[in-house]
Amino acid sequence: MDETHPTTTATVEPSSASAYLNPSYWDERFSKEEKYEWFKEYSHFRHIIQPHLTPNSSVLELGCGNSQMCDGLYNDGTTNITCIDLSHVAVHNMQNRLLSQGFKDIKVMQADMLELPFDDECFDLVIEKGTMDVLFVDSGDPWNPKPETMSKVMSTLKGVHRVLKPDGIFISITFGQPHFRRPIFNAPDFSWSVEWTTFGETFHYFVYVLKKGQRSSHEDIPPVKRIEVPHFNLFHEELESEDFAFRINVDELNS
Ligand SMILES: C[S@@+](CC[C@H](N)C(=O)[O-])C[C@H]1O[C@@H](n2cnc3c(N)ncnc32)[C@H](O)[C@@H]1O
Repeated sequence: MDETHPTTTATVEPSSASAYLNPSYWDERFSKEEKYEWFKEYSHFRHIIQPHLTPNSSVLELGCGNSQMCDGLYNDGTTNITCIDLSHVAVHNMQNRLLSQGFKDIKVMQADMLELPFDDECFDLVIEKGTMDVLFVDSGDPWNPKPETMSKVMSTLKGVHRVLKPDGIFISITFGQPHFRRPIFNAPDFSWSVEWTTFGETFHYFVYVLKKGQRSSHEDIPPVKRIEVPHFNLFHEELESEDFAFRINVDELNS
């Protein structure tokens, strides 16, 4: 088991993946769970994030939960950090923890990533880890997500694009594979370029780096090729049980 995953995990996993879309699920979970790091902790991917940051960067983290990614960013020299989460319990706990550990400059506030309460062009970098994946848990066919899923995803992305400075960067750390995510990130609404890389040992997580204003007008976006998704058992033993439940649609498997 990854050292970042506490033994309390078993008591907070939902019985169905769609519970992740319910705000009260997260409130209840965070009232029991002190610490849980989705996917991997910051040290595993900091080498990908750091080249995009300076000590003066203003950073917005979407859906911080009880992650310690902001601690890592702060300790690496970027102190102007705002974390948001929809769960007021997560926000309350995070504020208390950061204050007690001396991270007084990190701002934490309750907010919905679908309706970001920030001015236009005010952040150098927006980052999320596993938060947008919540929107996809009941998306249906991953090749053709439900309209309600796409509506929420596009609201989030348009908000992120709006609050980024003209040369700002959005970093999305996710299970979402490029053949599913690139067409969404490359929607005509956005001026960002889209690059991706991976980290991880046998199982790879995806890190998308979207640079606002960098989209070439001549960009040759390759057509999306429909490929077979690897059978989930290939990855099962390498993932935390909850990461696994999150990655696949448990409700669909059970139906
Ligand atoms: C899978 S967890 C990821 C937590 C954290 N980013 C991490 O890496 O450990 C999803 C988080 O997103 C939050 N969340 C879900 N929907 C949200 C929304 N619409 N706006 C903001 N936060 C949301 C949840 O409360 C939860 O903290």
